Amino acid sequence: PEYISVSNLAIALGQKIDIFLSQLEELGFEDVGKENILTGETAALVAQEYGFEPTVDTGEEEDLKARPAAADPSSLPLRPPVVTIMGHVDHGKTTLLDYLRKSSTVAQEHGGITQHIGAFSVSLSGGKQITFLDTPGHAAFLSMRQRGANVTDMVILVVAADDSVMPQTLEALKHARAAKVPIIVAINKVDRPEANVDRVKSDLATNGVEIEDYGGDVQVVCVSGKTGQGMADLEENILLLAEMLDIRAETDGMAEGWVLESTIKPLGRVATVLIKRGTLRPGDFIVAGRVHAKVRSLRNEAGVEIDEAPPGTAVEVLGWKEPPDAGDLVVQAPDESKAKAAVHYRQELHDRGEIISQMAQQEQDRQKRD
Ligand code: GTP
Ligand code: MG
Repeated sequence: PEYISVSNLAIALGQKIDIFLSQLEELGFEDVGKENILTGETAALVAQEYGFEPTVDTGEEEDLKARPAAADPSSLPLRPPVVTIMGHVDHGKTTLLDYLRKSSTVAQEHGGITQHIGAFSVSLSGGKQITFLDTPGHAAFLSMRQRGANVTDMVILVVAADDSVMPQTLEALKHARAAKVPIIVAINKVDRPEANVDRVKSDLATNGVEIEDYGGDVQVVCVSGKTGQGMADLEENILLLAEMLDIRAETDGMAEGWVLESTIKPLGRVATVLIKRGTLRPGDFIVAGRVHAKVRSLRNEAGVEIDEAPPGTAVEVLGWKEPPDAGDLVVQAPDESKAKAAVHYRQELHDRGEIISQMAQQEQDRQKRD
């Protein structure tokens, strides 16, 4: 963007500097002096207040955006499906996840999943992978959903066989429908003597879930997170559904993803990023919201450093200048200056929004007074 000093802007607008400075203060600028530098955008806003309609470079090219969708997605490589487990309290979500976590190859290779990073990948025979999101109901979800992003490719709806459909089962259904992602029903706790699978099925049908047994296409799998019964079938069903959905992504080009979690660890600021497209590597520059990072290192859920994170996997990213927010879109920049420019541009937009809302507030206050 272009820049202009306050004093030059005053001259451009034909205002006396002292008066101009007090007017700027009224517009919501704090402690501005004539030496202060404004960006073209801010200057344009101020100019508008003086009745000018300036044309400014909107700086579109300064920002980083997600790439447009591939023209022919069917030619892209397949990526692992991203799966979220939802369901009513105590119906066994954590137990199922723990079971899956233990069956994770990463866990087996490295003596257990040593850290919680909000997602983990399970490798199955035949080299196929499934990535489970570990943070259902996470605030990041809502934020991502509000931006029209479906981080998850499918929802596993857990219903306890001894409790059947409950309020949060319906809540989860609503979420899945709103996100337009398909579901697989996992009827859990089938090992319990009180288990009543038929009742669960009919309750689901009553609530509009078109399950297989009633002629629909929603798969139902009977499982026990306790004994492991049916868990291999569940994984098999997930892969089948993924195959039908034909989930593909570019492994090359600028990486894109979503911040699932953001924390501070002894090593520094760490964010878990779910990679959606491209491949992230140490040394890459990325932007999330109004912060950027030079990727210092990448670590998987076993705490092991890895040298690349392909699409459909989640990875811990170290190297952030400031902590990014969960739910932020991550976009790779071709170089550091582009990353910085994007952050700067977004900061400008943010500040401009603040100034505009301050102006609006002042206008309202003025109207109230009059
Ligand atoms: P919230 O996180 O509180 O919503 O619960 P959750 O859905 O994560 O349920 P959780 O996995 O904590 O399981 C609740 C209880 O059910 C625990 O006591 C589990 O041991 C038990 N449980 C979970 N799965 C099974 C199962 O397949 N069979 C039996 N018998 N008990 C189970
Ligand atoms: Mg739980």
